[in-house]
Amino acid sequence: MHTDTLQPEILGQIAAAASPEALEAVRVAAMGKSGSVTALLKTLGGMTPEQRQTEGPKLNGLREAVAAALAARKAELEAAALNARLAAERQDMTLPVAAPRTGTIHPVSQVMDELAEIFADMGFSVATGPEIEDDWHNFSALNIPESHPARAMHDTFYFPQQPGDEKRMLLRTHTSPVQIRTMMTQAPPIRIIAPGRVYRSDSDATHTPMFHQIEGLVIDRGTTLAQLRWTLETFIKAFFEVDDVALRFRPSYFPFTEPSVEVDVGYSSQTNRPAGAGEVDRWLEVLGSGMVHPRVIAACGLDPEEYQGFAFGTGVDRLAMLKYGMTDLRAFFDADLRWLKHHGFSAFDVPTLSGGVSGGLGA
Ligand code: PHE
Repeated sequence: MHTDTLQPEILGQIAAAASPEALEAVRVAAMGKSGSVTALLKTLGGMTPEQRQTEGPKLNGLREAVAAALAARKAELEAAALNARLAAERQDMTLPVAAPRTGTIHPVSQVMDELAEIFADMGFSVATGPEIEDDWHNFSALNIPESHPARAMHDTFYFPQQPGDEKRMLLRTHTSPVQIRTMMTQAPPIRIIAPGRVYRSDSDATHTPMFHQIEGLVIDRGTTLAQLRWTLETFIKAFFEVDDVALRFRPSYFPFTEPSVEVDVGYSSQTNRPAGAGEVDRWLEVLGSGMVHPRVIAACGLDPEEYQGFAFGTGVDRLAMLKYGMTDLRAFFDADLRWLKHHGFSAFDVPTLSGGVSGGLGA
């Protein structure tokens, strides 16, 4: 067949090729080993020099035109295929993630999130304070003077004191200094919780040198012990996800509260969970609390005649152990992957009151 008729024919076939496979078939039929264009090119060898001079450029032009048309059509078909895929494939970003779980939320973080959620619903905001404190905020302002035995009881980590230092610096032994910092910077009414790390020189199965507490503070006019009781009862029911809970208020002593009460939660050894009065056969101490001492209110520049308040403090790690059944506190800080996988929580189960604060319960 001659160049002049072959070229439009092949270009027509290329334009008509509707798929990469069809296009490949056209290419093989024209440019393959026994293709029509290849066959024509082979005839150059048998031509006279004069013929070759006129036919050579024509045949090369044919080959180039076909090659260019093939490349252009190939690009077109690929672009069309990509567009079709983009139009057809959909990614629903609202679907739950099915990816393998590689990291988990530590039980301490989980419990802190749960507590923040529970107290936010009661109108509490989250306050923070420094872990490196001075002895005024950690002790003196909380009605624990220099010579007070409670200072020794706290097994405090002190920083070396330089001559001329005004304040003695230490690692806070409890979250109570956040009470002071809050009262000194916010005007009542105050409703805060303060979760965070605290430090004491102590170590065994139930004590680690660093552990976590959560402090609660309410300051307002006419605050009462009954409000403290209601708040703690509501919090404990929500936290342990039980409808009824028996609480025992035991008189206690903290320098910064008067009266002071330690709170025990009634437990059923049947269900191993907090329970109502009828089912209780065990008591577990969960927190310290009381009415804020008038001297503490005065130390923060507020008038104790006008403002009263209650405060409570509890160990977050201990709450986690009670709720999720861990036995050795030291395991919390060992960074053992097997423990973390077993006791950790999915990052996708965010605690909410409506969904149950602990989500998948151990997930
Ligand atoms: N700060 C006390 C402790 O560490 C707990 C507490 C807080 C008690 C607030 C009463 C009021 O043991």
